[in-house]
Amino acid sequence: MNAIRAWFRERLPISPDQVLEVLDEPVPNHLKRWWFCLGGTPAYLFVVQIVTGILLAFYYQPSPTTAYESVRFITNDVAYGWYFRSLHKWAATLMIASVVLHQMRVYFTGAYRKPRELNWMIGMCLLLCTLVIGFTGYSLVFEQLSYWGATVAANICDTVPVVGGFAKRMLLAGDTYNSETVPRFFILHAAVLPATMIFLLVIHIGLIRMQGVTEFRFEDEPPRAKQHFPFFPDHLCTELMMGLVLMILLSVLATVLPASMGPRADPLVTPDVIKPEWFFYATFRWLKLFSATTAVISMGLIVFLMFIWPFIDAAFRRFTRFAEASVWIGIAGALAIIGLTVWEAAVTH
Ligand code: HEM
Repeated sequence: MNAIRAWFRERLPISPDQVLEVLDEPVPNHLKRWWFCLGGTPAYLFVVQIVTGILLAFYYQPSPTTAYESVRFITNDVAYGWYFRSLHKWAATLMIASVVLHQMRVYFTGAYRKPRELNWMIGMCLLLCTLVIGFTGYSLVFEQLSYWGATVAANICDTVPVVGGFAKRMLLAGDTYNSETVPRFFILHAAVLPATMIFLLVIHIGLIRMQGVTEFRFEDEPPRAKQHFPFFPDHLCTELMMGLVLMILLSVLATVLPASMGPRADPLVTPDVIKPEWFFYATFRWLKLFSATTAVISMGLIVFLMFIWPFIDAAFRRFTRFAEASVWIGIAGALAIIGLTVWEAAVTH
């Protein structure tokens, strides 16, 4: 044993003490509450997506002639194919939900304020990547809604002034949906976006490690209570336990509500109802409320304001009497998104 240890020590001159020191980040007490360490949940689900996605990629064939049949083969014939496909689909749903909840926690606790403005912006990039990776994933099945959803999305891109036509051609790999479209979605979904997200996550977590998380103190805590606990092993064990609970939840969902398949894509038959996945319901309803160009430009503006929100909030706090405006704006924004989502879910058209 000692000889093996010495062999490694010579080649990897890192001592166990140095490793422990790196792991020994003092974690503030409030992170014992799940709501405050929600960022670990999308991180865990991202790993589940990568593992199950690699397993699916062994059988998935990205072309319009083979995609649908290969997904059917995975679902019906491959050993545990239905299970891993359903895990992938449910983990995507939970990941989007948990990213949104994490962002809400960060927003409503003001944890984006100085010096964390850049990390908020990196977080916004992660949110957009998560939504686009979800969209491209649904487009890979090549069922009716994959095809028509992608066509509608490309037409929406087309309404963006100046760059719209270019964005549409980049998305579809041509002026209309063609044989190169599915391979393009696959490369975006399985390579470009995951690699971008890994890069962004390294910066996101690196910044958290350098800045530490925002410190909060609660009224119910005794005044002289210990304010921190060690990352290793305490926080890591909590995160691993959450991972176990999530795995059980995912397995139950995958078994009780397994991923199904709609009818195969048919470019000649427009479905009566075209609806995107639930996480685009609010955007879709917004598009129906205004003309396409107005809706797209206003959405672009909202996303831009979200990006620079830490600076707008700082200006509110410094130059106006409305220091807590962010709370009311946040509540109004959250209610608007929930309202639009429920509205879109409740009506057929
Ligand atoms: C894949 C998506 C994401 C992952 C895996 C992730 C991961 C994490 C983790 C592990 C933390 C440590 C504290 C915690 O757990 O709350 C954190 C904190 C933070 N995240 Fe994220 N995050 C993601 C998306 C976002 C988004 C969408 C935003 C906002 C736009 C954001 C902004 C922040 C900020 C500002 C902090 C520092 C919070 C503080 O100091 O208390 N993150 N993130």
